[in-house]
Amino acid sequence: MSRDWIARPGSPLQGRVRVPGDKSISHRAVMLGALAEGTTHVRGFLEGEDTRATAKVFEQLGVSVEAPSESERVIRGVGLQGLRGATGPLDCGNAGTGMRLLAGVLAGQAFGSTLTGDASLSKRPMKRVIEPLERMGASVTSQEGLPPLHIAGGQALRGIDYVLPVASAQVKSAVLLAGLYADGVTRVTEPHPTRDYTERMLAAFGWPIEFRPGFAELSGGHRLTGTEVDVPADFSSAAFFLVAASVIPGSELCIEAVGMNPRRTGLLAALRAMGADITERAAREQGGEPVADLLVRYAPLHGIEVPVELVPDMIDEFPALFVAAACASGRTVVRGAAELRVKESDRIATMATGLRALGVSIEETPDGAVIEGGVIRGGRVDSHGDHRIAMSLAIAAQRASQEVRIGDVANVATSFPGFVGLAQRCGFALDHVEG
Ligand code: S3P
Repeated sequence: MSRDWIARPGSPLQGRVRVPGDKSISHRAVMLGALAEGTTHVRGFLEGEDTRATAKVFEQLGVSVEAPSESERVIRGVGLQGLRGATGPLDCGNAGTGMRLLAGVLAGQAFGSTLTGDASLSKRPMKRVIEPLERMGASVTSQEGLPPLHIAGGQALRGIDYVLPVASAQVKSAVLLAGLYADGVTRVTEPHPTRDYTERMLAAFGWPIEFRPGFAELSGGHRLTGTEVDVPADFSSAAFFLVAASVIPGSELCIEAVGMNPRRTGLLAALRAMGADITERAAREQGGEPVADLLVRYAPLHGIEVPVELVPDMIDEFPALFVAAACASGRTVVRGAAELRVKESDRIATMATGLRALGVSIEETPDGAVIEGGVIRGGRVDSHGDHRIAMSLAIAAQRASQEVRIGDVANVATSFPGFVGLAQRCGFALDHVEG
C-alpha cells in the first residue's frame, strides 16, 4: 500500500459518482445483526478497514459473518446472550465508533474482553463511555481513560438516566447498547441532537424504543430479530466531492444516492450559506433513510461564520469545510467545535498545519479556526494518518498553483476504499506514490 499521494491542480469535475456505504450504519448493522435472533442481510456495507474490523471482532466473539459479494454481509445472529468470550484482544483498528459502541455491548456480557486499537485510537478519550457504563454497573479499566479497555463482564447492569456532557452519538449508542442488557429503563438526553442510527436500527430490529431528536429511552429484556439493512452512501464521503466540485471552476458533478439524514447534512447548509450551488434530485427513501442525488456546480464561495448549532450535524466534515473556506473570498470563522481535537487526529491542528504549508492564512482557536480565503500554493503536507485530512488536502491541491505531496495517506482505506480511482475518474489529478 503506497503511503503518499501526489496531487496536481485538477480539471473541472464532471460526470456521476457513487461513494461507498455509510460507515456509521455499517458498524451498527454488524453489531445488531450479531446480537439478533436469525439472519441479517446487509447490502451497501462499507468495505472499509474500520467496519471490517468490527465484523472481525464479532467473528472472534463467535458470530458467522459471511461476505457473499463485495459490500454484502450475511450475519447469522446469535441472540443477545449468544456471544462467546474471545481468546485474545479485540482489535478495533482506527475506529472510535467500533470501540465505543463495542464497549457498551461487551459491558453486558458474562465474559471479560479487551478492546485495543491502532496508534491513533489508542490516544482517543474513552472516559466518556467508561463513566456512564460504570454508572450502569459495568467494570471497565483503561490506561487513564485511554485504550486498551478491559471490560470485566459478569456484572449486572441497571438502567440510568444519562444527560450527555458532550454531543456524541458514540457515547449515546454505547449507553443504549448496554441498556439492552440492563435492568429497567435507560434514558439518554443530549445537549444537541446527534445522529440517531442506533435508535432507528434498534427499532428496525424490533426492539421497543422511544426516541426523538435529543432523547432516547429503552428498557432491557426484549429481543432483536434479524432483518435486511440497505446502507445508503456515506454523506461524509460525498462531502469531499461536494466541496471539490464547488471550488473547482467549470465543475458539474452528480453524486448519487447520498444518505441525507438531517443529523449528517450540516455541511450542505454551511456550503449553501457560502454560496454553493447544490441541488437535491430524486429525493427518496432507502432502507428507512432519506437519500438523494446531489448535483453540484462550481460557484464562487464567500466566507461565513459557521452557525454553532450546525456543528454536531457536520462534525466529520470540518476538514473539507476548511478547504472550502480556504478557496472562498473573505473570512470563515468556526467556533464550538473543540471535539475536532479528539478525532482520528487533532483536526484543527492538522488542517491548520496542512493549509498553512500551502500558503493559506489560518489561525487556530481552542474550539475552531479563523480562515482567510486566498491563493493556495504547492508544497508538502501530511495527513497525520487521518483519512479525512488526507482527502481534504487532496481537494485543496486541486486548487493549488503547483504540485502538492500528501504524506501518510494509507488510512484513507478506513472509510473510503477506492477514493483515488473515483476521484481520478471525475477529474482529480491525484496519484499514489511510494512514500
Ligand atoms: C459517529 C459519531 C461521531 C462521528 C463519527 C461516527 C457514530 O463521533 O464523528 O465519525 O457513528 O456514532 P462522536 O460520537 O464522537 O461525535
